[in-house]
Amino acid sequence: MSKERVQIFDTTLRDGEQVPGCKLETRQKLKIAEKLEALGVDVIEAGFPVSSPGDFKSVSEISKLVKNTSVCGLTRAVKKDIEVAAEALKPAKRPRIHTGIGTSDSHIKYKFNSTREEIIVRAREAVSYAKNFVDDVEFYAEDAGRTDNEFLARVCTAAVEAGATVLNIPDTTGYCLPEEYGQKIKYLKENVKNIENVIISCHCHNDLGLATANAIAAIRNGARQVECTINGIGERAGNTALEEVIMILRQHPDLNFTTNLNPKLLFELSNLVSREMGMVVQPNKAIVGANAFAHSSGIHQDGVIKNRETYEIIDPADVGVTESAIILTARSGRAALAYKAKIMGYELTKLQLDIVYATFLSYADVKKEVADTDLHEIMDLSFKNRASA
Ligand code: KIV
Ligand code: ZN
Repeated sequence: MSKERVQIFDTTLRDGEQVPGCKLETRQKLKIAEKLEALGVDVIEAGFPVSSPGDFKSVSEISKLVKNTSVCGLTRAVKKDIEVAAEALKPAKRPRIHTGIGTSDSHIKYKFNSTREEIIVRAREAVSYAKNFVDDVEFYAEDAGRTDNEFLARVCTAAVEAGATVLNIPDTTGYCLPEEYGQKIKYLKENVKNIENVIISCHCHNDLGLATANAIAAIRNGARQVECTINGIGERAGNTALEEVIMILRQHPDLNFTTNLNPKLLFELSNLVSREMGMVVQPNKAIVGANAFAHSSGIHQDGVIKNRETYEIIDPADVGVTESAIILTARSGRAALAYKAKIMGYELTKLQLDIVYATFLSYADVKKEVADTDLHEIMDLSFKNRASA
């Protein structure tokens, strides 16, 4: 059975860039956009053009630069926003306007002081207006995660009738549980008129650490576009991490989904985004964190040295990481020490290894991590101690 393709909508340069202190200049956004296209994403959300002249310029310049990838600009359900986004997207080969409005009762009451019926009218009008400028219009129902499903289906039906090509169902506050979010997508698939003519998109925030799990639940229930960011950056606790979705779909062929992406570029992109934004990737971050392929306890190191697959489900080379790392710490065993010593040019007998291991342990207890170059000193100490004993 052939695999179904899931489109990747990267919003690193829009939602991701909303991280405080991570604002990028146009030249930095261009650098990242170029790499995103090389990675193979289907859509680059380049910014929110009405929000600032800088964002307008970035969307416009990315539209000129990018060759085949769709370029998207965010708007509110406001005519001026849509006009400005359309202007910024003019040079794009495949422009997409992403417009929408809050649909949860909380947004309707506190943000808009409005009613459900009025929100439907505004949603319909925004999509219709955007269709005057571009064919490809994505509609978002902000806070869909906390929106009553029956009402959400009515808003989505109005957006589809007005010409939306993609329906984005954001869990804006990261509230939903995977089962619940999956059921929401299923409900919409079954209750929105003509839904078969549009793509359902998931956009999950990570407030409860469930963004990736929710995105996968959405795909399994009918979503065919995932909105995500490199390193999972974004508002508050961030968005679904692109690298996690890609590798989950690859490592679970039984799910029967595929993407257009080249995972070998994931590590490079992660570093680029981290550098340009000045935002460190947490060491234990799945797939791209410094410790994602590092082994420090004796039992694990022994297994990995015998066969990498004992403790790694991903070949680091598949995501552009040169190799697994064996980190020497006080928890390391003789196997790791012998392995590292050999790399540094020391072939040790069993007896010599016992002697060096004793020195190594006292050294490692003081120094949290023992560098490869420290091994020279450990060797000297081991055999000097012995000579003077
Ligand atoms: O989280 C969200 O709801 C959004 C929309 C503006 C798409 O980012
Ligand atoms: Zn968002």
